[in-house]
Amino acid sequence: MKIDFQETTDDLAKRIDIHSRFGSRDIDEWMLGILDLQPGTRILDVGCGAGKQCFSFFHYLKGQAEITGTDVSESLLEEARAKNQEIDNAVDFRYLDFNERFELPENHYDLISACFAIYYAQDIPFTLSELHRLLVPGGRLFTTGPMPTNKQIFYDIIQKATGKEIPPMPGSSRYASQIYGTMQDLFSKTEQHIFENPLTFDTVDPFMVYTRASMSEDRKLWNSLFETHEEFELVMESIGKVANDYIQRDGKIVMTKVVGGFIATR
Ligand SMILES: C[S@@+](CC[C@H](N)C(=O)[O-])C[C@H]1O[C@@H](n2cnc3c(N)ncnc32)[C@H](O)[C@@H]1O
Repeated sequence: MKIDFQETTDDLAKRIDIHSRFGSRDIDEWMLGILDLQPGTRILDVGCGAGKQCFSFFHYLKGQAEITGTDVSESLLEEARAKNQEIDNAVDFRYLDFNERFELPENHYDLISACFAIYYAQDIPFTLSELHRLLVPGGRLFTTGPMPTNKQIFYDIIQKATGKEIPPMPGSSRYASQIYGTMQDLFSKTEQHIFENPLTFDTVDPFMVYTRASMSEDRKLWNSLFETHEEFELVMESIGKVANDYIQRDGKIVMTKVVGGFIATR
């Protein structure tokens, strides 16, 4: 499967900001709670973006960890390295394309995390085998991704605004069809956790900031709805009207993020 996905720093930062301002739960607290990390852990974060999870691990373990963050996007790595200066460059941020063989030490990591990233891999069994190879026996792989019930109201509003079918989203569709099954095949033990976070919007503007940031960067997934910039703007206008109707009717839009957290033990 060819999935060419490159996040821009701006779109990712906007979405992270909307989650922290309008969400009611903190996903990093949930992640740290289920992972129960111990000091001295060797961690590899794959698809680290601007380093969100790497910095969470670092602060939770009070720096007592070896943390490597990797991504294919040079601009996100640059942003991660800039923040890394605040902690004396404690995290090792490097370029890594998870569609290629990983040039990293084998049998080395206690934890490999891939948060909201693994479903962009072209060949899931290949990427998961590479991650398996780098873990120590008993080491854990932690991946997260959206579940099929994720932000249902967001898709309802888009469907109502455009009158078109929502295209399959790689996260929710690939976890069910491929990712979880491959993890079960490769690893000795797998477990699933669910995180739910309602984001409440009393006004339409922040909902539209989220929608723009989400759909503009994922535009290749949405090309049955728009291709040109003008078409994108027309779709945004229609979505804005429908979102406004929801707020007039219900007083708010509650968009619940439903995220799966999968832990597989080598
Ligand atoms: C939605 S972002 C998540 C970033 C970060 N884990 C977070 O939660 O903030 C998805 C990340 O996967 C990265 N990515 C996509 N394709 C990749 C590839 N082939 N190899 C490595 N990273 C990739 C993107 O550059 C982006 O940083």
